[in-house]
Amino acid sequence: METVRVSASKEYNVYIGSGFLSSLGERIKEIKNPCRAVIVSDDTVYSLYGGTVKKSLEKSGFTVCEFVFPHGEKSKSLLTFGEIQEFCAENSITRTDLFVALGGGVTGDLTGFAAASYLRGVDFVQIPTTVLAMVDSSVGGKTAVNLNAGKNLCGAFYQPIAVYADCETLSTLPEETFSEGCAEIIKYGMILDGDFLTFLQNNSIKDNIEKVIKRCVEIKRDVVNRDEFENGDRKLLNFGHTIGHAVEKCSNLTISHGNAVSIGMVIAARGAYKTGMVNEDFTKVLLPVLEANSLPVKCEFSAEELYAAALSDKKRSLDTISLIVPEKYGLCKIQKVSVKDLKEFIKQGLN
Ligand SMILES: NC(=O)c1ccc[n+]([C@@H]2O[C@H](COP(=O)([O-])OP(=O)(O)OC[C@H]3O[C@@H](n4cnc5c(N)ncnc54)[C@H](O)[C@@H]3O)[C@@H](O)[C@H]2O)c1
Repeated sequence: METVRVSASKEYNVYIGSGFLSSLGERIKEIKNPCRAVIVSDDTVYSLYGGTVKKSLEKSGFTVCEFVFPHGEKSKSLLTFGEIQEFCAENSITRTDLFVALGGGVTGDLTGFAAASYLRGVDFVQIPTTVLAMVDSSVGGKTAVNLNAGKNLCGAFYQPIAVYADCETLSTLPEETFSEGCAEIIKYGMILDGDFLTFLQNNSIKDNIEKVIKRCVEIKRDVVNRDEFENGDRKLLNFGHTIGHAVEKCSNLTISHGNAVSIGMVIAARGAYKTGMVNEDFTKVLLPVLEANSLPVKCEFSAEELYAAALSDKKRSLDTISLIVPEKYGLCKIQKVSVKDLKEFIKQGLN
């Protein structure tokens, strides 16, 4: 079992290993006295792993109740958030109890925000079960739900008390969902670690999954330790996300987050090169690595559609939008683009 320590406003460990879900209760008991534990999970993940987690928690003295919601991005909503709050109140959950987020990024973001808000803050642990959640969303304390106007527009910075990434759970992940997580992995290589990007060019992510997850968590940990509340460096993690969120929005959330980020990174890299912001076409390496991991690189929406959707992004100030663009392999910069130039940037980035 590997451990990565995060030192943000709350200090906590991220554990990465395989096959420890049935002893999770014992592990959680090391940091939290037995109490009432609310497992929050989607229907798919709960049917696969809910029983094991529940049994393990009960064996260690926790009293468990569960809130299970329909899987998918559409559940990351104010409606589900409200249902969780009401469920906890009806079950007399107190401030010293525990939320357990069991699932992918949707579950983690939703549960984290519910934990941040219920009684003004209850401890929560993350048990990520997708690649994306293990390498990215479970670490760093960004929690949110979506609004009609756009993704993640309502949320809070709220750190978990621990993260337990059991890679054995990835064995049931559909191939496509596994690939979607690879977009965030490749993102880390592009923005912060050129050697890691070279490793990804030459090696299979699946065959090296624990090592890859650990490296990604370390990279994210370093960024979060430096800039927990995204006043500077943390914005780099949004490489591919501003346009990616626009892609998700245009598709009415039918294109997954990981696939949208893959498309968003290509548009950002190509747009930066073709509009003269940078001197090199970084899609030369980016495209083949994404394609080798079965990720989409082409966009079905027009520049006009993406532009309209991108304008609701929260990384936008009144007249400018912050885009992350590559400068070198393993190094990106924050580039402010005026709202009026954004459409041309996207147009150039599309092909
Ligand atoms: N908070 C952050 O810092 C951050 C970072 C990146 C992404 N995100 C968010 O993460 C979300 C995407 O996360 P995701 O891709 O994990 O989506 P997800 O949680 O919807 O999971 C994808 C699908 O896989 C299924 N699933 C999950 N684990 C499984 C398993 N082990 N076996 C079989 N099926 C399984 C789920 O039921 C779901 O249908 C987006 O909402 C995105 O905005 C947040």
